[in-house]
This record gives sequence, structure tokens and C-alpha cells, in this order.
Amino acid sequence: MINAASNIFAPSTENIAAAAAVIREGGLIAFPTETVYGLGADATNDRAVASIFEAKDRPRFNPLIVHFASSSEAGNAAAFDARAHRLAGAFWPGALTLVLERRSASAISLLVSAGLETLAVRVPAHPVAQALLAAAKRPIAAPSANRAGEVSPTSADHVSASLAGSPEMILDGGPCPVGIESTVLDLTTPRAVILRPGGITRDEIEGVIGPTGPANAAPGGATEGVKSPGMLARHYAPDRPLRLDAGEVGRTEALLAFGPHAITGGAAEMNLSPSADLTEAAANLFAMLRALDRPDISAIAVMPIPETGLGVAINDRLRRATQSALAGPAAKG
Ligand code: TXA
Ligand code: MG
Repeated sequence: MINAASNIFAPSTENIAAAAAVIREGGLIAFPTETVYGLGADATNDRAVASIFEAKDRPRFNPLIVHFASSSEAGNAAAFDARAHRLAGAFWPGALTLVLERRSASAISLLVSAGLETLAVRVPAHPVAQALLAAAKRPIAAPSANRAGEVSPTSADHVSASLAGSPEMILDGGPCPVGIESTVLDLTTPRAVILRPGGITRDEIEGVIGPTGPANAAPGGATEGVKSPGMLARHYAPDRPLRLDAGEVGRTEALLAFGPHAITGGAAEMNLSPSADLTEAAANLFAMLRALDRPDISAIAVMPIPETGLGVAINDRLRRATQSALAGPAAKG
């Protein structure tokens, strides 16, 4: 049942029950969500939450998303207004994270929000995440299951390559269907603000609650006054530099293509979506960045991606990775 040689497990009922027991005992589990893999701990246990930061080498000021089995459970921890109720009804379970005022009676560890008076909450759709939450009977705090500064994992192997044995178990749910992190939406201001573009688009959100405020991204990577520290430029980064909007590829470069094209001559090529489908491109993005991040490649040349729908989140991640490479390895977390 439990293979001692590896901490990767099939998501059988038994293994999910074992993982839920690890969570209740204060341990760490990596599990699939529809967006990316999460590194989860009992959100009500301060020590367990602290061990997430330790495993990731994450700066303490970066707060975590808390995952719940249902919106009513999320509503016990954070105060939902009318917009939050409408958004939860439209997009949960799914790739949307809501930043709300924390309820003072909430049992969620204060360390989760790293000093903020708000809580980021989400109900994930992935059946393995749902089963784990149901079995653990605890809200689960979970950042993406990678070391700080690396791209988010979209497969169990990515988690294993990044964090090795620090989660007691990695539940293998196959590749993540969305492949890009959840949209983080701040509802603590009269006009909602997208802090991080992600799997649910601005248009989809505005279709439910009307206009959102301007994004307050800090592409320069300033740490002070950044509402969502995950917006820091250096957060998403392969080691190889990225070259965006590429119309050709150098001999030692890898081409990360999008859609049909006639570009030839690089050292390697992968196509985010041969049919120019943004949903497919999002699902492939992190796996392909990892696959092309090889010592024999001088840079990754990325073809232009349209700035519409999920393309906004894809381009956001690509621009951050570019900033990070420009800033040099010392800037990486
Ligand atoms: O898709 C996802 O969101 C994945 C899966 C595992 O759920 N999780 C994820 O977590 O990407 P992480 O920790 O890598 O990114 C969480 C983002 C960060 O940008 C963080 O700063 C922001 O959410 N965040 C968390 N709590 C916040 C809060 N109270 N206020 C503002 N931003 C917050
Ligand atoms: Mg992350």
C-alpha cells in the first residue's frame, strides 16, 4: 500500500485517508488542485503552518491561501459580503481565491496571513483536493508546492524534484488541468482588485460583480506596500533567461512556441498549444518552462501570446520570469 522507496502515492481512498491523518497530526502533504499542486498543512495548527514556510524557504511575509471543502466553511473563517457570495456561487469550486476580512473568532492560524488582517480563501475543484479536505475535516493552508522562486508544480514529479521528501506524502493526481495558479481577488476595498491574474479571467469576474480596479502589480519587485507579496517579480522563475515576443530563435536558444509557426533553427522546441488555444497553453506553461530550463540552452525564446482571457495570466507569469532573470540569481527566493 505505502511504497517506502517513494513518497509519491496514487490517490486511492486508503492513501487519501492516510494523507488526511498526516494533516491532522500536523504534517505536510502535497496534493493536486485543478490549478497547481499545493503543499498543505492544517490551517488551524501554527506549528504545521510554520513548517510550510520552512519547507519552501519562503519569506515569512508571504501569506498563504486557505482551502476549504465548501463556501459555508470558508464563511466561518472570513467575512463574505454580497460580492463574495455571488463570486463563490459562480466560480467555486474553482480557480478563484478571495481575499476577505478575517473573522475574529476564526480558528485559522495567524501565521497563515503573515500579519495581515485578511484571509485568502478558496474552494478547490480537483476531486483529490476535495476528498482530502473531506477526510481531513480541517481547512488546509497550501501555497504552491515548490521552493520559493521556482515555477509552480503541475505534476507530482515536479513536486518531488523541488521539495523531495519534505512533504510526508505526495498525492499523484496527474497533470493539473488548469496549470496556472488561481486568480487572487481582493474584496476588502469597495472596488474589487485582481492582485494576481490566474485561472479565472477578469472578464469572467466582471461578468458577475462589474468593473474591477486597476491591477497594482509591482513589476520592479518592491517589497514594501505590496498587497499580495506573490506579485513580486521574482516569484516565477526558471534559471535560463526568457526572451519574450520572439519572432525567431537563436542557434543555442530553445523556442517556446504558441500556435502554428514557421520558425526553425533553435536547439529545442516545445509548443504551448499548436492550435493556439490559451487554455491548453496555460496547462502546459510551467511544465514546458521546466523542460526547457536546461544547461545546454542559453535562453528560452517565447513567441507572442495574445493578451486576452487566460493570456493575461500567462503573460504575467512570463514577464515576471523575465524580470527575475534580469535581476540575476541573487534576486531569486
Ligand atoms: O492556485 C493556487 O492559488 C495555488 C493552489 C495550491 O491553491 N496556490 C498558490 O499559493 O498559488 P501561493 O502561496 O503560491 O500564492 C498565494 C498568493 C500569493 O500571491 C500571496 O501573496 C497571495 O496569494 N495571498 C495570500 N493571502 C493573501 C492575503 N491575505 N492578502 C493578499 N494576498 C494574499
Ligand atoms: Mg507559489
